[in-house]
Amino acid sequence: AALCVLRAALCRAAPWGRRAASGGSVPQRIEEKRRAALLGGGQSRIDAQHRRGKLTARERILLLLDPDSFDEYDMFVEHRCSDFGMDSSKNKYPGDSVVTGRGRINGRLAYVFSQDFTVFGGSLSGAHAQKICKVMDQAAMVGAPVIGLNDSGGARIQEGVESLAGYADIFLRNVLCSGLVPQISLIMGPCAGGAVYSPALTDFTFMVKDTSYLFITGPDVVKSVTNEDVTQEQLGGAKTHTALSGVAHRAFENDVDALLNLREFFNYLPLSNRDPAPVCECYDPSDRLVPELDTIVPVESTKAYDMLDIIHAIIDEREFFEIMPSYARNIVVGFARMNGRTVGIVGNQPKVASGCLDINSSIKGARFVRFCDAFNIPLITFVDVPGFLPGTAQEYGGIIRHGAKLLFAFAEATVPKITVITRKAYGGAYDVMSSKHLRGDANYAWPTAEVAVMGAKGAVQIIFRGKETDAEAEYVDKFANPFPAAMRGFVDDIIQPSATRRRICHDLDVLASKTQSNPWKKHANIPL
Ligand code: HXC
Repeated sequence: AALCVLRAALCRAAPWGRRAASGGSVPQRIEEKRRAALLGGGQSRIDAQHRRGKLTARERILLLLDPDSFDEYDMFVEHRCSDFGMDSSKNKYPGDSVVTGRGRINGRLAYVFSQDFTVFGGSLSGAHAQKICKVMDQAAMVGAPVIGLNDSGGARIQEGVESLAGYADIFLRNVLCSGLVPQISLIMGPCAGGAVYSPALTDFTFMVKDTSYLFITGPDVVKSVTNEDVTQEQLGGAKTHTALSGVAHRAFENDVDALLNLREFFNYLPLSNRDPAPVCECYDPSDRLVPELDTIVPVESTKAYDMLDIIHAIIDEREFFEIMPSYARNIVVGFARMNGRTVGIVGNQPKVASGCLDINSSIKGARFVRFCDAFNIPLITFVDVPGFLPGTAQEYGGIIRHGAKLLFAFAEATVPKITVITRKAYGGAYDVMSSKHLRGDANYAWPTAEVAVMGAKGAVQIIFRGKETDAEAEYVDKFANPFPAAMRGFVDDIIQPSATRRRICHDLDVLASKTQSNPWKKHANIPL
């Protein structure tokens, strides 16, 4: 269906013909320039793009935006370089190497730029950068997200420092827009050198499998500096960045799949930090009981289960847009809806490394929590955490500093915060995971919850070091249950798992009018 829409739109939008020479009346020249702009770098380069399984910059925009909603800017802008024969008419392309403008995604405003690989490999000229900056400035002004479709050979080599200046102009705007409007990057081709820092500064970076890559220096430079043999794909492909480096948040099969997923993702986001999180019509009853949850946590406290099963069962229609599903899988983060409202979900994953917190999962969780807090998205946290991962690798890697990020993020967040302890909440990790003490608004324990400094075995070994004792049973009886926390009001209630959805939906209704703020400051100093 998406391809039919795309084809129809292209038929309407692209009366492509040969690039005509200038001359003639003004209306004729306008028409000629428009035709030339629509053709980008020419039919043979468009064909080459298609042969690689890639869409063109314009095709991508048409697929991303609602039909007939694209208003283009700066179609007549041309690069201003005259070195290396660049001022000859055959080296001038109206619009240069990027298509920019605004449009609608399911009726909601978005600003878009789409780099055109058919024009000088989508490389960034001064004019190209200026076009991107214009849409970013407007987006910031009116309060609407910026979506970048990246497909570029980097700095326009012929332009030298003009191009570097252009990058810096974009980076500055990425920073100024951060926390103001959502910024999303979709990498759909090469993205190398300092150019990678614009996507890295945005809130979410998505990639297309097999056709996109991100790296600071390509395989040849790597070989000459470190003598490593590595392919582009190994160095900076989608798999590398979604599973190993954590630079990218999701990867999709191809251009069409990526753009359709981006449309779906967009529906979860508010337009700006001044906008409430969007509310969709909901057909999943908010008071739906979920009986299977009453038996989902294994009786044996060391046995694994899948936190995703709990999340899917509780949220609207089981629809979960997971962020970074292949990276630091011991924590699960993503967007869902509860009674139609967007919520951010954070959950420890007992299936992977017992759901412990380590360096990567702390960073992954912290960044997600901060995005939600910046954009008014309530946080729902599911806790089953045995603590922070011990060991030299973690300590030398700075788990103290990185774990502090997640603690910091939850503590400073002022959006509605609802926490459900499903099983273990041990040690410092109990405090970190959106506990009452960090201003959790509604904190619940399931009957299977165990809130303690550590598990019974470890605790007894420390207290009765080397001595024969049967204190483990006493410890379990005293601490391996929800009462110590509930008796102190550190959890608001011990709830039946099957009633969790109903309870959270009620809380979200009440907390919709929550107002809370932090003391005035220039900005906080999160441990980096
Ligand atoms: C000008 C460029 C270009 C560039 C590609 N082209 N990159 N023109 N500046 N940076 C042109 C090519 O000359 C070619 O023109 C067309 O784009 C397509 O390029 P090909 O090489 O034919 O395509 P392909 O084989 O797919 O290779 C793509 C590529 C390669 C891997 C991106 O072109 C490449 O390595 N380009 C240079 C990358 C680079 O080093 N960029 C600078 C990075 S440093 P014709 O006319 O033949 O179609 C950087 C600093 C940023 O970006 C700093 C920010 C702070």
